[in-house]
Amino acid sequence: MSMSVIVVGLGYVGLPIAIHAAEAGYKVIAFDSNQEKILKLQQGITEIPDITLQQIKKLQSNGQISFTSKLEKQVKKTIFIISVPTPLDLNRAPDLSMLKLACNSIAKVAVDDCLIINESTSYIGTLRNLIKPLIDRESQITTLKYAAAPERIDPGNKKWFLKNTPRLISGITDEAKKEAKVFYGKFCDEIYEVSAPEVAEAAKLFENSFRQVNIALVNELALIADKLNFSTHEAIMAAATKPFGFMPFFPSIGVGGHCIPVDPSYLSYSAELVGIDAKFIKLANQVNSLMPKVITERVREYLGGDLKGKQIQIAGITYKPNISDLRESPALDLIKELTMAGAIISWHDPFVKVYEGQQSVALTSEVDLGLIVTPHSQIDFSTWKTANVKVLDLSANSNNYGWPKFL
Ligand SMILES: NC(=O)c1ccc[n+]([C@@H]2O[C@H](COP(=O)([O-])OP(=O)(O)OC[C@H]3O[C@@H](n4cnc5c(N)ncnc54)[C@H](O)[C@@H]3O)[C@@H](O)[C@H]2O)c1
Repeated sequence: MSMSVIVVGLGYVGLPIAIHAAEAGYKVIAFDSNQEKILKLQQGITEIPDITLQQIKKLQSNGQISFTSKLEKQVKKTIFIISVPTPLDLNRAPDLSMLKLACNSIAKVAVDDCLIINESTSYIGTLRNLIKPLIDRESQITTLKYAAAPERIDPGNKKWFLKNTPRLISGITDEAKKEAKVFYGKFCDEIYEVSAPEVAEAAKLFENSFRQVNIALVNELALIADKLNFSTHEAIMAAATKPFGFMPFFPSIGVGGHCIPVDPSYLSYSAELVGIDAKFIKLANQVNSLMPKVITERVREYLGGDLKGKQIQIAGITYKPNISDLRESPALDLIKELTMAGAIISWHDPFVKVYEGQQSVALTSEVDLGLIVTPHSQIDFSTWKTANVKVLDLSANSNNYGWPKFL
């Protein structure tokens, strides 16, 4: 197979796509503007879960993949995949600066008939109203094809991964959709076609808004349970015995990562553009982002009403277990809240060496309280257990009946 694929942005989304496409036989040029990252990838080094040094080395030696921070003008039809970050700015509005730069890079090297697929999450209409006009104008090419295939990957998930998570696809033209279908069909088990890119974009935003709203709802239940003195987990598990119309979510200290706290704001932005106030999303944001404050109050009560000088150690500060991603992690807000209340915080995270100048330290028994926030499977809690350290388990999937639970 001689078709080339250029993946723009090699993070949690782009690198797995690049590897899968290369393993499926495409000749992949893996491009990232971060030179340091490229140097590491050229040596096979990455922190992205489930991608191994051996895998990268093998594809490199076969000539299936190359890593670069500089793109060359293409000489023949190429498939471009956009997988760059689409965060929120300080006002929680879409920050599409990296997406626009990616489009500029593509426009410079694209040739007639290239297929451009957007996997980055963005507001509804981004492919048609932003990506296409920008690349068409900059490249001065009129034959480019555009498809939307929003990524739904959950990095580190051992059950649902790139291959077996159904891939949503649509195109601005039927031809674009058809070509995108052929591409993903090489390494995805199931393709789900939708009638327009806007549907694919909306589906991606809605599925993560669904999670955000339900997490907020269950966090509210946890607050009610705390005051009424019943076990949230037990109530949720009891509700989950209903075989229809219910899906369990579990309380936590909030939502983190690049998706759940961000994507719903892209949906509310889409709503604002047409004069609709997306109230559920705002409310869910409010409830979830209040959780670190709520937990701080709970800890204050538990430690006698004053946190000044209290030594508290946190186990796990990334936004979910077994990955190194700190983006939007609510653990960081919890650290801020506890510190502002006067507590002396130390933390242990095998995936994070340093955060804001503070280093990860081993779990110690010399603390007033241990907080389990992100229970990475490699954390050994024996130091706390042996010394009978007071522990509050705040992890969402702890399966400890009673949340928040003092162990
Ligand atoms: N992380 C997830 O779990 C996940 C899941 C589904 C969808 N998404 C979406 O996918 C997109 C990418 O997210 P991610 O988590 O992979 O981000 P990431 O930060 O892990 O990686 C993005 C990469 O893009 C590079 N980059 C930035 N601007 C660039 C440019 N102009 N040209 C080339 N490279 C550039 C960065 O250096 C970085 O290496 C986002 O829109 C995100 O919302 C993420």
